Amino acid sequence: MAIKAVLFDAYGTLLDIASATNRLVETQRYPELSEKAEALTDIWRARQLHYSWLRSLMGEYQSFWQLTQDGLDFAMKATGLEGHDDLRADLLGLYRQIDAYEDGRAILEMMKAHNMPCGILSNGNQHMLDEAVQHAGLMPYLDRLLSVESLQIFKPAPQVYQFGCDAFGVKADEILFFSSNGWDIGGAAVFGYQTIWVNRAGQPQEILPKAPDYEVANLTQAAMKAQQICGF
Ligand code: LAC
Repeated sequence: MAIKAVLFDAYGTLLDIASATNRLVETQRYPELSEKAEALTDIWRARQLHYSWLRSLMGEYQSFWQLTQDGLDFAMKATGLEGHDDLRADLLGLYRQIDAYEDGRAILEMMKAHNMPCGILSNGNQHMLDEAVQHAGLMPYLDRLLSVESLQIFKPAPQVYQFGCDAFGVKADEILFFSSNGWDIGGAAVFGYQTIWVNRAGQPQEILPKAPDYEVANLTQAAMKAQQICGF
């Protein structure tokens, strides 16, 4: 099916979730952070995601920004950094203005140059997405920043992927979706999107009902693949 719109996941795909912790380590403001940074980042992300799925199942939606804070609080406890209020505030401040990956701009420019309708479909709430994309300077390339906020449920719930179809007025298999998150690309594939898994971390493929259509290592490779698929 010909592609009529492209959608990108935000956190981990266009936006570098490790950048908040890494940038703070670079400032050397908190010497106790450096050796714990990797564990903190990993636990923070894992809890943020777990809480999103658990709350979806429980019917207890909370904004992704709240879950980002809850995940950080858990991670700080787990790494013995509990009670460092300044550290917590600095990490959250940096998360709001998270770095974009360098390889994102070129693929977005390519979509723009070919007038391909292009957006983000993210679990992030609207304010988080607006601020991060603005900060990264990617706003001019994106027609829509679609947040699950209005649906009050998180990916990989099918209604979120349906929201992408509704927003662009296209069918599921007319969307080409990019995500670095295996669980997200799995959800999109099951829903019926055409999928490119941007396997930045070199992870094994998730064992889920439907495999991604394509696997690449970064968004530069994804751009080459998308060029073929979209017929540019
Ligand atoms: C997103 C996160 C969860 O949807 O990766 O942007």
